[in-house]
Amino acid sequence: MIMRFKNSLSLHNQTKLLLALFFTCASVLVASAQTITSPDKNLTLKFELTANGVPSYQLSFKNKPVIKPSKLGLELNGLPSLMEGFTVTNTEQQSVDNTWEPIMGEQKTIRNNYNELLVTLTQKEQQDRQIQIRFRVFNDGVGFRYEFPKQENLKYFIIKEEHTEFNLAGDHKIWWIPGDYDTNEYAYTTSKISEISQLIEKATHDVHAQHPIKSALAIQTPSMMKSNDGLYINIHEAALINYPAMQLNVDEKTFRMSSHLTPDAVGNKGYLQTDAQTPWRTVVVSDKATDILASNLILNLNEPTKYKDVSWIKPVKYIGVWWEYFVAGKSTWAYGTETNVKLDDDHTQLTPSGRHGATTENVKKYVDFAAEHGFDAVLVEGWNVGWEDWFGNWKEEVFDFVTPYPDFNVKELKKYAADKGVRIMMHHETSGSATNYERRLHGAFQFMADNGYNSVKTGYVGKIIPRGEHHDGQWMVNHYIHVANTAAKYKIMVNSHEAVRPTGVHRTFPNWIAQESARGTEFESMSGLAPDHTTILPFTRLMGGPMDYTPGIFQTDLSYYGTGSDQRVNTTLVKQLAYYVTMYSPLQMAADLPENYERFPDAFQFIKDVAVDWDNTYVLEAEPGDYVTIARKAKGKNEWYVGGITDEKVRTANVSFDFLPKGKSYIATIYADGKDASYNENPQSYNIRKVIVTSKSKLKQQMASSGGVAISIKEGSKAEMKGLKKL
Ligand code: NOJ
Ligand code: CA
Repeated sequence: MIMRFKNSLSLHNQTKLLLALFFTCASVLVASAQTITSPDKNLTLKFELTANGVPSYQLSFKNKPVIKPSKLGLELNGLPSLMEGFTVTNTEQQSVDNTWEPIMGEQKTIRNNYNELLVTLTQKEQQDRQIQIRFRVFNDGVGFRYEFPKQENLKYFIIKEEHTEFNLAGDHKIWWIPGDYDTNEYAYTTSKISEISQLIEKATHDVHAQHPIKSALAIQTPSMMKSNDGLYINIHEAALINYPAMQLNVDEKTFRMSSHLTPDAVGNKGYLQTDAQTPWRTVVVSDKATDILASNLILNLNEPTKYKDVSWIKPVKYIGVWWEYFVAGKSTWAYGTETNVKLDDDHTQLTPSGRHGATTENVKKYVDFAAEHGFDAVLVEGWNVGWEDWFGNWKEEVFDFVTPYPDFNVKELKKYAADKGVRIMMHHETSGSATNYERRLHGAFQFMADNGYNSVKTGYVGKIIPRGEHHDGQWMVNHYIHVANTAAKYKIMVNSHEAVRPTGVHRTFPNWIAQESARGTEFESMSGLAPDHTTILPFTRLMGGPMDYTPGIFQTDLSYYGTGSDQRVNTTLVKQLAYYVTMYSPLQMAADLPENYERFPDAFQFIKDVAVDWDNTYVLEAEPGDYVTIARKAKGKNEWYVGGITDEKVRTANVSFDFLPKGKSYIATIYADGKDASYNENPQSYNIRKVIVTSKSKLKQQMASSGGVAISIKEGSKAEMKGLKKL
């Protein structure tokens, strides 16, 4: 690990500017229009000033328009705007081509190759105020941001709104969720851009919707689109730091999208002090859907970490006292039956319901199971006082993060887990009270350090405190980063739920290893997830970073528990296996109850084997909303894993094994849906077969309705290969 860190440092130092500053001029001579292309010349970006000195850009891919001329600028509070009256006073271009190594990731080495244009704009009539716009054109898309250099006449300012436009070239197909300042936990709608207003009410009327945006027709990013002529276009942002998250206003008639920042409690949209910059606005584009999934543009636009020691940041495969709260009906987070409880009440005096899940005894069972099957950690929710009265009352002091319930013995479990080589994963549900959490943060992390915890799942269910702030506003964006940064001081890894959706900042704060920030498996126990949901997520939510999706549900028919629920997890069992490959995360849960894994030990083997950190990724085939097939090589091992998933349609996954080294034979174990399998009738029908594969092998594997395929590929001895057929 230390080696890896040194490597990445030296690689960083090796950064080569292949061609720097080849165009710098004095203001009078600077042309107001500038064009740059991607290194492979497929993308062309043009910047120009239009009438009245309004900045504008446009983008094309292989001569097809992606973004038609679109305005750039910001409106300020109480100051003249940064939207017009500009002249171009300087431009600089450079080309960069280097590589770097993420601490954990989908690839061991990432290439960072772009052409850059930096435009300096001056408002002569506004005391020569200056801003800069920096464009980076990669082969897979464009990133640009506003920069505000230190200057006499622009020191502090408040943003009223950012007015970045994305003028799309047509009425594209779009996979979208409604704009909301507080949650991303929506089901996706697939429609034309022109149909969004007709559909948004239905799309918004849903569990967990918190602050659907009423002031405008708005959707969230990452926003995935496909044009009639086959271009895939993804709009999002990178490096969201000290700034509110961007939503997109939609003009259905002109197909124009424009930035809509999340306001704070008094309606402002960002407080900046020069020098400063906005996050990058990103447009990933290709004529191949697989290129969108393979893109590293967002990560490349984030800064390398400044952490000195990263040896403690590691992939985590975990189980948890969790799903039983959602399905089995036998246990609860809360210990007592009372409902009106205060944090400083004597919790030993509560009336035990007898259904508390996080008991010492129950956790020991999970620890045993984790140890037996090679999991790194056991998440325990409901271990600490406060759950009787945690939700819905906008209370500031709900949890203290250090006081266990009377039936949860911290010291005993510390020893028990340590003896078995398993970590217990901390749970800090804040119930949205970020103020309370910040006040108690050091105590909470010290408690973890003292008791052997090295990772925490945080949660922000409910309305935020400070009251009036939003999950996606600048205040909270800074809060999440403060938590990650503080956790790093205690060598703690963070997995946040209900935080602002990721924008690649895990490159800079690499202990923020995963996030929820979308509908995950928990919804399968509530309103359910549509069969196409997980074919959309890689193109939307996962563009920004890893997701703690919590896959691995084997008992998909929830009526099994006899609790009166007829809810179903809308997949086959095999599709749940495939998620470990299709949904990238260095933190992966096996979310089902241990006893369900014991019922299907042969299928469980895939979850035990599958890697969570990778040397390489090969996106074999994909179409948003329809199917995704991905192969990955395990980090530092000659092992490969393949996952393929489909929506409600029965489909054939096409796997060409040409990602394997040439001239060698391997054993592939293929986990396939049974011939009679389907997610709603027969989800647990599967078969497992072993075959020999080489780089020349090709597989056509049928996937059931909302089914999938999962494959592990390993080296084998002659004896192990004997008798196996070639694929
Ligand atoms: C919502 C989270 O997504 C879920 O995983 C957790 O169990 C509950 N909040 C309680 O914190
Ligand atoms: Ca959630």
